[in-house]
Amino acid sequence: MGDKMLIDTHCHLDYEDYDNLDEVIKNMNGIMIVSGCNDKTNKQVIDLVSRYDNIYGTLGIHPEEVDNITLESFNLIEKNLNNPKIVAIGEIGLDYHFTTDNIDKQKEVFKHQLSIASKYKLPIVVHSRDAIQDTFDILKNYELTGSIHSFSSSLEMAHEFIKLGYKIGVGGVVTFKNAKNIQNIVSNIDLKNILLETDSPYLTPEPYRGMKNQPCNVYYVAKKVSELKNIDIDTVLSITNNNAIQIFDLNI
Ligand code: NI
Repeated sequence: MGDKMLIDTHCHLDYEDYDNLDEVIKNMNGIMIVSGCNDKTNKQVIDLVSRYDNIYGTLGIHPEEVDNITLESFNLIEKNLNNPKIVAIGEIGLDYHFTTDNIDKQKEVFKHQLSIASKYKLPIVVHSRDAIQDTFDILKNYELTGSIHSFSSSLEMAHEFIKLGYKIGVGGVVTFKNAKNIQNIVSNIDLKNILLETDSPYLTPEPYRGMKNQPCNVYYVAKKVSELKNIDIDTVLSITNNNAIQIFDLNI
């Protein structure tokens, strides 16, 4: 491994998911941006950023959680945005994969959080699954920036989001043998538009696919991007780290 610092721009370090969280955090030579998804994990993110210098956080309500929220959920988010280590609103967005019964509620919660991001001038971490056109149609009405995390749509849509001011979040899927779509996107967009992530504990890259993911595995995402673009890994890390520092205004 090169000596360049790693930045994992999107992961979840839910206390329920790791019985060795301290070790997982120590394994990471660099910065982690941990995303909350609901009241419980938003509180954990606030706790984590207070305990570890190299952890930054984002607070948000994930589209799969919109049926479980109260007004207090948004208050918890807003009252912690003066914390300098809370660097974005997320993970927020639209997910039509499991249900389309609550699309209106998903859109309402998404838009409400976009207005919070606008009010506090914060970037966003966007989750979009089977909902890319609706996601785009909503985001184009806001002047925001951030990550379209674990991007899984077309190259054409990637260009549209880039034009809107967003970066393309690339994670472990890019290392999978059959992931021709995201590999093609990585090959065809400029490195300055890419953010590296793990989405731990999910989407573990090769060669550890099948095991629980952790932030240090962002190295294997960087390595694959380096191979696909035929650019040395230190340059990949240097450019994508700069992207992350700029988008999330990281004080490092
Ligand atoms: Ni995620």
